[in-house]
Amino acid sequence: MGRSPSVQRSPSTVTAPVVTVRVPAKVNVQLAVGPLRPDGFHDLANVFLAVGLYDEVTVTPADSLRLTVEGPGAEYVPLDASNLAARAAIALAERHGIAPDVHIHIAKDIPVAGGMAGGSADAAGALLACDTLWGTGSTREELLAICAELGSDVPFSLVGGAALGRGRGEILTPLEVGGTFHWVFALADGGLSTPAVYAECDRLRADTPVPEAAATPTLLEALRTGDPTALASALANDLQPAALSLRPSLAATLHSGTQAGALAALVSGSGPTCAFLAKDAESATSVADALTASGTCRAARVTSAPAPGATVL
Ligand code: C5P
Repeated sequence: MGRSPSVQRSPSTVTAPVVTVRVPAKVNVQLAVGPLRPDGFHDLANVFLAVGLYDEVTVTPADSLRLTVEGPGAEYVPLDASNLAARAAIALAERHGIAPDVHIHIAKDIPVAGGMAGGSADAAGALLACDTLWGTGSTREELLAICAELGSDVPFSLVGGAALGRGRGEILTPLEVGGTFHWVFALADGGLSTPAVYAECDRLRADTPVPEAAATPTLLEALRTGDPTALASALANDLQPAALSLRPSLAATLHSGTQAGALAALVSGSGPTCAFLAKDAESATSVADALTASGTCRAARVTSAPAPGATVL
């Protein structure tokens, strides 16, 4: 932290300082959802894995706070103060008694409202970019505290790699990952609202006792050893029945990927993006080709994990 902003120079002019931060998407290799808490959140055992799909957040000084977004789904991203990236800049500025006069530009590649923490990534990216631009020199702990105020998944977007999230997902313990995992993501048309998926999960479980959420030891061991077959058999998402209930067509997407040779398929977080774990890079490419040909998704993307957290470019 506390890095000075890079200054772009051309031969005849000196332009304004500009900072760009690259931030990864995530998939939850385990999302165990415990009982509903009095504050409306659920206690989780949330095993996050950062994957190599990225948004880029660029900040430059401006007369007032301004936000622009480009990329697939940009038209669905709010441009007012409800945007998490704008809220990140405001939160940091308030702590330091300065005005959040910055132009935040987000180049999106993470699916919007797709269950891959795209909005959280943009918040973590804007926070780190503004801290760098303004020279506010926050410690990691200070940045993580702001992240946790902004949203349950935002701290993980800052740190990347793999981590177990407890509480509502914001209390992180880093996890060791012993290899590269190859993933395919099937992108859907339109998004799903995270609160709506949690509410549907509560509705579906209304008549069953809900145990405390706990991480599965075999899953943590599969991450540690880098074994895709072992990880495939331990993948679990308690929000999947709710996402399927709200978007039944996802069942066909999941089926297409497993038919095409994926080791396992699951809904990513609250969906509607579907995630497929592949044996290796070659298998991931053929699963993606089959998903594209199946017509059960808008597009398929191949990538690998773990990916690093928010990084100043
Ligand atoms: O923390 P965040 O703003 O991302 O949460 C969005 C919504 O997701 C919450 O308002 C809540 O409905 C749901 N949620 C939850 N339990 C969590 C995390 C999120 O119920 N642990």
